[in-house]
Amino acid sequence: MSVLGVDFGTSNSAAGVAPAGVPQLIALEPGQQTLPTAVFFDFEDRKMLVGQRANDALLGGDEGLYMRALKSLLGTSLMRETRSLLGERIDFIEITSRFLRQIKTQAEAATGDTYDRVLSGRPVMFHSSDPARNAQAEVDLRDAYLRAGFAEVRFMNEPEAAALANRDVLNEGDLGLILDIGGGTSDFTLFRHEGDGINILGSHGVRVGGTDFDRALSIAHVMPLLGKGSPIRHAFGPDTHPAPHKIFNDLATWQKIPFLYAQDTRRAARELEKYAVEKPLFGRLCSVLEDELGHDLAFAVEAGKIAANGGGGEAAIALNVLERGLSVPLPTPMMADTLSTLATEIGDAADTTLQLAGVKADAVTHLIFVGGSSLMGVIEDALSARVPAAKVQRGAALTAIVDGLAIGAEAAFND
Ligand SMILES: Nc1ncnc2c1ncn2[C@@H]1O[C@H](COP(=O)(O)OP(=O)(O)OP(=O)(O)O)[C@@H](O)[C@H]1O
Ligand SMILES: [Mg+2]
Repeated sequence: MSVLGVDFGTSNSAAGVAPAGVPQLIALEPGQQTLPTAVFFDFEDRKMLVGQRANDALLGGDEGLYMRALKSLLGTSLMRETRSLLGERIDFIEITSRFLRQIKTQAEAATGDTYDRVLSGRPVMFHSSDPARNAQAEVDLRDAYLRAGFAEVRFMNEPEAAALANRDVLNEGDLGLILDIGGGTSDFTLFRHEGDGINILGSHGVRVGGTDFDRALSIAHVMPLLGKGSPIRHAFGPDTHPAPHKIFNDLATWQKIPFLYAQDTRRAARELEKYAVEKPLFGRLCSVLEDELGHDLAFAVEAGKIAANGGGGEAAIALNVLERGLSVPLPTPMMADTLSTLATEIGDAADTTLQLAGVKADAVTHLIFVGGSSLMGVIEDALSARVPAAKVQRGAALTAIVDGLAIGAEAAFND
């Protein structure tokens, strides 16, 4: 019986095995080592698509329900609420399990093996401010794996898997700090390389990642173009009040977007438009809700973030989806400013990792950056400043975690 290593990420997922200790990742889509963690219920073809095909269906304008950042819903009451989709009532555990089943099936087809055991990554903190939700999230994820057909599930903290994959970066006596900045969480492990394995001195995490950067950028720079903060007249008299924030905050949050496409939200937006001082702004909000363009907007913000991070002088968030030719400039310093509070939160969590292990920053010899959001300059700057003497190393941004899970998979079941 073989064990499959699975990194179920907020933005990207991957699976692998490690015969003879060397990680081999499974192509979950042709030629791709990672699979976008996205699903699309296609209302015309009446089937569920996953990964890049789900993204393509959304961006191609097909009719259906799209979801990304499913992992961020683990632990919340939404996971076990059922809803009607393609003629059946299913909950989010089921949706997650169908995504995981696809990984299992694809891995079995690719390797000819059968996997009834899985070593899954998990963030150190699914929810950093709510211990009950944090515990429930692992219960939810385990249930999703079991429903996907795995008989046994074990978990490893994602940054500990990254440490395993990067153990050879360290020599005898070195002290490494993994900084795994992903889509939904940031996770840290302090470790030494000892013998064939690693000695973990401490791990810690915080629920802040790239999807939160997208959210902050959208709230600050895009949502005002849809009416956020704009005055609404009272039904009687000359007074006004600012439009309520909730609808805009939800529209800027990947995992909440699908829930906004309900009649009552659309009606509330029309009502705001009716009394708005600046009606055209709310007209945009209404079309986004009615034409279900929330994810297209979020993809535009994410693309603007990556462009601004690349340092291009002309970086901008292109909002053709709202209006042909509309865009918001996003110079790199402006982005750094918008994300500074989140960068500080991530830096504080890295500091806490060292404090919990009783280690001073100047004892750390190597900072090892992994995770897609570790490519953000503003994050690397914020983190390197806290441990200035350490040597900065880049691990495989999108595959270090799954490499480590593949390496550790068999041993995780040797009790
Ligand atoms: N070049 C880049 N510059 C900045 N950010 C990037 C870049 N490439 C990817 N990202 C961001 O990285 C994030 C995804 O990273 P990753 O795949 O490591 O996350 P994940 O493993 O799915 O999430 P998590 O581990 O938090 O569950 C996204 O928010 C994406 O926008
Ligand atoms: Mg990750």
